[in-house]
Amino acid sequence: MIEINNVTKSYTMGEEKISALNEVSLTVEEGDFMAVTGPSGSGKSTLLYTIGGLLTPTHGNVQVNGSMIYSLTSKERARFRRENVGFIFQTFELLPYLTALENVMIPLSLAGEDSRDQEKWALEALEKVGLGKRATHKPNELSGGEQQRVAVARGLVNEANILLADEPTGNLDQKTGDEIMSLLRELNDEDGQTIIYVTHDQSNAKLADKVVGMIDGRIVTRINQRN
Ligand SMILES: Nc1ncnc2c1ncn2[C@@H]1O[C@H](COP(=O)(O)OP(=O)(O)O)[C@@H](O)[C@H]1O
Ligand SMILES: [Mg+2]
Repeated sequence: MIEINNVTKSYTMGEEKISALNEVSLTVEEGDFMAVTGPSGSGKSTLLYTIGGLLTPTHGNVQVNGSMIYSLTSKERARFRRENVGFIFQTFELLPYLTALENVMIPLSLAGEDSRDQEKWALEALEKVGLGKRATHKPNELSGGEQQRVAVARGLVNEANILLADEPTGNLDQKTGDEIMSLLRELNDEDGQTIIYVTHDQSNAKLADKVVGMIDGRIVTRINQRN
């Protein structure tokens, strides 16, 4: 469902050219639960954002569900993201002045859904991550793990078939991080959502069906752990 073909993403910093991604090719199948590992600066986030339609490659192409996402106009690509991709970030990225429920409603609001549906679906998503009772809380009234669960709910509320998580447990303690990982695993098992997550943590990588290891903008290992 996701085909990355020979993707290079280069940045020029003064005299120096940095290849954040260097001729990367990767296939992700529908329902994959995939971990991306590698040292800091190896290109993991760049790979994730390229897959999600947020970062145009310098060379190469990315095909998702049959469409070349970087051949679309930026408006079409924004629509593609809204309908197909959910993002979860290390720093949660919740809006502080909105309640948990309102934060989860954002993708639905952007998609122009009816406001009553927005509330209903957002509440369902919060219930799914075990936070139905925290709907009216603001982010600063929630623990780190709860904030990340709100972010997970926001990532899944539009029923996107692809969930991209950039170090989703990076700012959480071990136990809370494990809970977030089990939640992602559950979403993958039960709803068959395709999930790609970046992690530094070996035990988190062990949960994946497939693990991709990166160094210096290249994929250097590909392991299939599915039994
Ligand atoms: N916007 C940018 N401008 C210049 N260099 C960048 C930019 N984004 C990322 N890079 C560089 O690309 C490389 C890969 O970055 P990144 O994908 O964030 O790595 P990782 O997520 O594995 O830590 C790094 O050397 C980083 O400094
Ligand atoms: Mg990163």
